[in-house]
Amino acid sequence: MPRLKVESDIKNIGMEGNMSLSLKVWRQSNKDAAGGFENYKLDHVSPDMSFLEMFDVLNEQLIEEGKEPVSFDHDCREGICGACSMYINGRPHGPLRGVTTCQLHMRSFKDGDTIVVEPWRAQAFPVIKDLVVDRDAFDRVISAGGFVSVNTGNAQDANALPIAKEAADDAFAAAACIGCGACVAACKNASAMLFVSAKISQLALLPQGQAERSIRAEKMVAQMDAEGFGACTNTGACSAECPKEISLENIARMNREYIGAKFSSSAV
Ligand code: SF4
Ligand code: FES
Repeated sequence: MPRLKVESDIKNIGMEGNMSLSLKVWRQSNKDAAGGFENYKLDHVSPDMSFLEMFDVLNEQLIEEGKEPVSFDHDCREGICGACSMYINGRPHGPLRGVTTCQLHMRSFKDGDTIVVEPWRAQAFPVIKDLVVDRDAFDRVISAGGFVSVNTGNAQDANALPIAKEAADDAFAAAACIGCGACVAACKNASAMLFVSAKISQLALLPQGQAERSIRAEKMVAQMDAEGFGACTNTGACSAECPKEISLENIARMNREYIGAKFSSSAV
């Protein structure tokens, strides 16, 4: 009985539960393959499992049945790395606000539910396999200007560079972005403006970011456009679905940074 090992594994980790679920999971062998949904039944799911632990159990079951496990991205499993990106019932990171997929627990669903799971859908995030997408476009946007150039050496004294509390708080809030791409996935235009604006803001607000401030805004926006992300039409879905609740104010700040950069570069 191939299912028995899965059920004993669940008992062994103290997570035996009584939920039965139907899963419709997107399977796609590579970026050029057509892909499609496959249906799975999963029993004895505990409400205390995380969504990714539930997928671990599904994959054990598939392996024991001689089938290929579902590929999905994950690393930290505690809301930090941004890797666990997937649509769950049509929403990036699932039904709750302010959480990543790895922080979502099965108690958010009901016994007998059907759950539909898909990869991010955006031209700039091609599917690598199943639920894993290529988010290198974000890395290229960061490489274009999302850094400060400093000479390395000993860390400065913490009080050597005073920063106003309000600026520090706003920079910290923007720096909470984990680069998951949910903002792009949620946007009908596949716009990356929330992500890019968070990265521009966290540096524009701090003294360390001033030296490259203008060039940073110009280069990151240019790279964002080159990657094929869409324009912002102010629907706000990005911020509503962002697991770190990054504010739309960052997009307004990015637009000001960009316009200021364009004025100063045309004045030179
Ligand atoms: S802004 Fe939010 S949704 Fe977009 S990449 Fe950052 S954390 Fe993810
Ligand atoms: S696995 Fe790192 S945020 Fe979910």
